[in-house]
Formats: sequence, structure tokens, C-alpha cells
Amino acid sequence: MPIHKICCIGAGYVGGPTCSVIALKCPDIKVTVVDKSQERIDQWNSEKLPIYEPGLDDVVRQRRGKNLFFSTDIDNAILEADLIFISVNTPTKTFGNGKGRAADLKYVEGAARMIAEVANSSKIVVEKSTVPVRAAESISNILTANTFNKPDVKFQILSNPEFLAEGTAINDLLYADRVLIGGEDSEDGRAAIEELCQVYERWIPRKNILTTNTWSSELSKLAANAFLASRISSINSLSAVCEATGADVSEVARAVGLDSRIGPKFLQASIGFGGSCFQKDILNLVYICEGLNLPEVAAYWQQVIDMNEYQKSRFSAKVIESLFNTVTDKRITLLGFAFKKDTGDTRESPAIHVAKTLLDEGAKLHIYDPKVEHSQILEDLTHPHVTDEPENIRKSITIHSDPYEATNGTHAIVLCTEWDEFITLDYQRIYENMMKPAYVFDGRKILDHEKLQKMGFIVQTIGKRLARNSPHRVWGSKVQS
Ligand code: UDX
Ligand code: UDX
Ligand code: ADP
Repeated sequence: MPIHKICCIGAGYVGGPTCSVIALKCPDIKVTVVDKSQERIDQWNSEKLPIYEPGLDDVVRQRRGKNLFFSTDIDNAILEADLIFISVNTPTKTFGNGKGRAADLKYVEGAARMIAEVANSSKIVVEKSTVPVRAAESISNILTANTFNKPDVKFQILSNPEFLAEGTAINDLLYADRVLIGGEDSEDGRAAIEELCQVYERWIPRKNILTTNTWSSELSKLAANAFLASRISSINSLSAVCEATGADVSEVARAVGLDSRIGPKFLQASIGFGGSCFQKDILNLVYICEGLNLPEVAAYWQQVIDMNEYQKSRFSAKVIESLFNTVTDKRITLLGFAFKKDTGDTRESPAIHVAKTLLDEGAKLHIYDPKVEHSQILEDLTHPHVTDEPENIRKSITIHSDPYEATNGTHAIVLCTEWDEFITLDYQRIYENMMKPAYVFDGRKILDHEKLQKMGFIVQTIGKRLARNSPHRVWGSKVQS
């Protein structure tokens, strides 16, 4: 039976864009995205969507009210759907068994229980959140155990992990490298897989739609993120070697990436990776390996996280050391707070780590990001994980809506996110209004370092020792490098 109605539980970074693109490509399918948060749904129904994602506004505008709906009426959406995506959040557990490592499945479980309670006809339930291997089995158990009194209601559980990256989500969805669908190896399982294939086939070539067993599908998602993150940790580890030896990490990355067996992507050294997935998924993989009594495998992947922590700390330490080992009461400007460009998302952003270290040392932070909400920055930096003195933090940070205002009178600029607009700022104007010596720490390697040095800036970056800065003597003080 072909799919006519889709319900998606969870209107977040995954559910929202994914279902918008499905609605765009399948005008005959009614797609209803539901969330328990009224505020989120109201935003999806407004002119200002709850997430910033290039191209998303346009897709939503085209389909909303036609075959794309955002609603808090979860029961009704479940009742009428042939296929239900579960796209709720799966944060790392903050307490109890597996604290700090295992994925917290309470939201997935909540969604499954809701489906079991409400459904009065058979459904295909598709797990889209990143969840630990064997989660489909847990969802299946919850559904079966809670529908024993509804003998006609049958569920097929599929795993269909989402590989979109924030900032490029729409493109990633429209031109996916592959779509992965895992399901039960039975007649009913294969039939359910085929129905979901037919949805994606409207715009993804069939050869790019992979079907596997459920566990392979679930593990592939964790594996893909672990591989990607390990490339970043690998190049970041080499950035430390470059700084110590005089090699240039960009040159090394280019030389390595030209090997077709390695490839050029994801070799950009940085202040460390962030985002809601990489760390969470690797921690999850490590936890699973420990549970399977595979400690060597667990240690191998744990090192990817440890290297990332090291990189974030190394960069923050470099900033402090360069500023004569003290930043107390110094005004420092963070350019960028999101975990990467073209998103307003700050989850696990390395900027939080840098900000925390500088605040702990007594700095006065001035922060500018083109898309992150001011309230989000404040929430991130006053979170109990970051401080037990939120009032003091509030007094030490100022959030700006203009980069020139943010850099006015500052001692140092610390560039944390690679926003394009930072490349073309008027650095001459910025230089003139800064304290001297004026420092730039380019944590993303996007600026023209030579040009900045010529203006008089002292510049530091990742994975490259810059030639000593021009010997300007500024305000009689000796220029440091
Ligand atoms: C390697 C590099 O490939 C080459 O660029 C460099 O100049 C020298 O080192 P080599 O050691 O000759 O070349 O062979 P390679 O094909 O890289 O294989 C090395 C080992 O890895 C072999 O034992 C091979 O069986 C193993 N291997 C390779 C795997 O186990 N899995 C793979 O996917 C690829
Ligand atoms: C990632 C995966 O790419 C995506 O397939 C999966 O579905 C979800 O997790 P996302 O976290 O949105 O996507 O963004 P991504 O582009 O992967 O970047 C993650 C982090 O790595 C960012 O902080 C980014 O700045 C950093 N990064 C990326 C680097 O430091 N260097 C690189 O070369 C690439
Ligand atoms: P992701 O990045 O995985 O999409 P988000 O946090 O952006 O994660 O989105 C997940 C959404 O799922 C949130 O808006 C949250 O309110 C919603 N959610 C969680 N549990 C439920 C539930 N049981 N029913 C409906 N919505 C839920």
C-alpha cells in the first residue's frame, strides 16, 4: 500500500528540514510535523522559522498549508499516518547508568509509547534520530507490549538515519550521497522497506538507496559520524606538530587529500569540532563497545574525543599565553559562536569552551555572531556545566549585533566560527579602534594573515607558525609575537 500520509514526531533540526523536502518532492503525500512544544510549532507556522538553514524558508513557503503542516495535535497526526518518523532529540545522558556517554532514549521511548497508545491501524515506524544500535528493537518491544489489546494493529520498524549536515541541510537532502534504510529480514519487513524506498525514489536515484538489516543501518550512522570526526581529530593532531616544526597544516592537508584513497574533504584544521552529533555519537559508540567487552575498540574511538578536547584547550591556552599570560579584566572579542557557519546552532560549539576558559581567567568578553540568538549565548555561558556563578558571568559578557561595535576597544579578536562575512570585514577600521598591540587569533584559518600583519595586527592561527609580525612599535610598546 503506497504511503499517503506521513507524520513526523519532533520538529527540530532533523525533522523540520527532512519533512519539508519530502513535502516538496512528494506533493501527493500529506506531511504533518508534530512537536510537543507549542512555541516551536508556532515558529514553524510563522515567518521566522525556529532554525536558520539556508534555503529552508523557501521550501517551507512553497509547501506549508498545501501538503506540509506543523501541529501540536500529535494524536491526530499519528492516527491518520501510514508512516511515522521519530525525529526527537537523543541527548547524552546526564545522570544514572551511562551518564555522560550513553544516549538518553527517554524522548524516543516517549514517542514510541504515544504511538502505541494512539494508533488504531497498522503503521510503519521509522527511526530517524541517531540512536544506539538495537534501538529499533527497543521501539519494537514498546510498541508490541503496549498494543497487545489491539490485535489488528501491526508495526514495522525501520531505521533510516539522516546524514544531513547543518548549514547545508537542504542541499544534502535534495542531493543525498545515499539514503540508508534498514529493516527486518522478513516479508513484511521487506515490504515496509520498499514503501519507504518509493518515497525517496521520487528524487533519489534507486542505486543510491541502500537497504540493509536494521543493525547495520543503525551502526552505519554512528560509524559515519565517527569516521568524519576522526578525520578532523587526525588533522588537528597534526596541526600541533605543524606549529612545533614549522610545517603548514593546510599544505599537509592538501598533499594528503590529493591521494584519491584519502580525498580532500573534512581535513580542515580548526579549534575543534562541535555540533550535536559527533561527540554524542562517538561517546555512544564507546559506551556500546565497553558493553560488548571490546575495551580496545572503545579506547580507539575515545581518543577522537580526547584529541578534540586537547585541541580546544590548546587554542584557548595559546590565546592566554600570547596576551602576556593574563587576560584578567581584558576586553576580548569572540567573532562567531555557532559550531560552524550558516547555522544558528551552538550545541557543543567549541566557542563555548574558549569562552569558558577566558571567563575563568577573568576576561571581559564581547561576542558577535550573525545568527545565534543573544538569549542562546547567555544560556550557554550560564549553564551549570559552565559556571556555578551565573550572575558573575552575566556581568562579564556583552553580546553585540554589530561586529565593529564588538571589536571597539578590544585587546584581541578570537575568531571561533568561519562565517563568510568575517573574511570581508574592514580590518583596517577595526585595527584603528582596538587596544594596541592588537591581536587576532584565527581559529578557523579563513583570514588573510599577511594582510592583517601588514596592518599591524599580531596574528596567530592553527597549524602554522606565522613569520614574526612587522616590527611596528605601537604606542611605544614592544610588539610581541
Ligand atoms: C603503502 C601506501 O599505500 C603507499 O602510498 C606508500 O607509499 C607505502 O605504504 P604498501 O604498504 O605497499 O603502500 O601497500 P598498501 O596497499 O597501502 O597496503 C598496506 C597494508 O594495508 C597491506 O597489508 C594491506 O593488505 C592492508 N590494507 C589495505 C587493508 O588491510 N585494508 C585496506 O582497505 C587497504
Ligand atoms: C554532522 C555530519 O556531517 C552529518 O552527516 C550528520 O548527519 C550530523 O553530524 P553537522 O554536525 O551538522 O553534521 O556538521 P559538520 O559539517 O559535520 O561539522 C561538524 C563540526 O566539525 C563543526 O564544528 C565543523 O566546524 C567541524 N569541522 C568540519 C572541522 O573542524 N573541520 C572540517 O574539515 C570539517
Ligand atoms: P534534532 O537535532 O535531533 O532534530 P532537536 O532538539 O532539534 O533535535 O529536535 C527534537 C524535537 O523533538 C524538539 O523540538 C522536542 O520538543 C521534540 N520532542 C521530543 N520528544 C517529543 C515527543 N514525545 N513528542 C513530540 N515532540 C517531541
